[in-house]
Amino acid sequence: MKKNILLVAGLLAGAMLTACESKKAENTQTNDTLKIEQSVFGKVSDSTNATLYTLKNQAGTEVKISDFGGTIVSWTAADKNGKFEDITLGCDSLAGYQKGVPYFGALIGRFGNRIANGQFQLDGTTYTLAKNNGPNALHGGLKGFDKVLWTATPIDGDEPALKLTYTAKDGEEGYPGNLSVEVIYTLTKDNSLKIDYKATTDKATVINLTNHAYFNLKGGFNSDILDHEVTLNADKFLPVSKTLIPTGELKAVAGTPFDFTKSTKIGSRINDTSDEQIKFGGGYDHCWVLADSSKNLKLAASVLEPTSGRFLEVFTTEPAIQFYTGNFLDGTIVGKGGAVYKHRYGLCLETQHYPNSPNQASFPSTVLKPGETYQTTTVYKFSVKK
Ligand code: GLA
Repeated sequence: MKKNILLVAGLLAGAMLTACESKKAENTQTNDTLKIEQSVFGKVSDSTNATLYTLKNQAGTEVKISDFGGTIVSWTAADKNGKFEDITLGCDSLAGYQKGVPYFGALIGRFGNRIANGQFQLDGTTYTLAKNNGPNALHGGLKGFDKVLWTATPIDGDEPALKLTYTAKDGEEGYPGNLSVEVIYTLTKDNSLKIDYKATTDKATVINLTNHAYFNLKGGFNSDILDHEVTLNADKFLPVSKTLIPTGELKAVAGTPFDFTKSTKIGSRINDTSDEQIKFGGGYDHCWVLADSSKNLKLAASVLEPTSGRFLEVFTTEPAIQFYTGNFLDGTIVGKGGAVYKHRYGLCLETQHYPNSPNQASFPSTVLKPGETYQTTTVYKFSVKK
């Protein structure tokens, strides 16, 4: 209680300071350090607020992240004329996220993507999860890492960072083991947002962490992403069942609408429903197996929005990437600045292990044991192609 009162007092002071500090910051900042600003984002409970942290670099990029869900709330990128615009879907306030938006910008865990029938076995025990997506478990459960309050530590510097920690309890959302998670977002000088994930457990568990940012590189949130040109460094993908569970097959993309080995407009084949997989996904909602299966940081995907020239590259240490084209967006969500998020107004590039790995012995393991450290890195890098 006392701690909460102190926290509220601290946040209020922080909120009051923000206005003064931004002024002060202009005078005192060093050549390359822009202080991380904090503001109250909304109430998580009567005594606890969520905070919004603003990370800026000298190039003019600004990323706002909340400790609620570790959510990237906004993210600006320059177009070919140097105009900065927000390129990630989201809500203006915490209340929007609390209403239950489809994971806009959030950290996803303990297990990103689907687990068939909300069940898996580990060391002879059957674990049962909430079926929150048809017959399956999706994105960590009813209250996954996207809906919890993380503990945040801002780290000022010429490459400002936000460290977020969260400990998921043994049995939380049905998963075994107390899992200590640390995620560090770093905004680099070259306009990358680097996400370092780390976790340890006290009991064998399964883990698949990712971020669920929705991008629309055109800016303005008033058009779909079908003209965006995508490259995926993957010559195989995972076909799925009707409920989007991988069949177990690794299928060659060659000759299918899933071939993004060369830069291709998303819209050119997305409605090719003669392909059963396009039909099942309602467009693209599949996991691509990266050609480089090593744990090195490698280029997994790139996206060009030709009118703005904004160019996004995604690097990861993960073996796969879920490419989702916002097929479930249907215009019922009103987001930032009153923007209506219609069908396919955003795309996600979720770096990860394969979906349903806990039930597919042939897939790379997602088991984390006591004494081991889960460690992955993903980098989203923005630049411009003229
Ligand atoms: C993931 C899934 C999609 C959908 C979105 C959220 O990307 O693969 O099917 O559930 O999350 O709407």
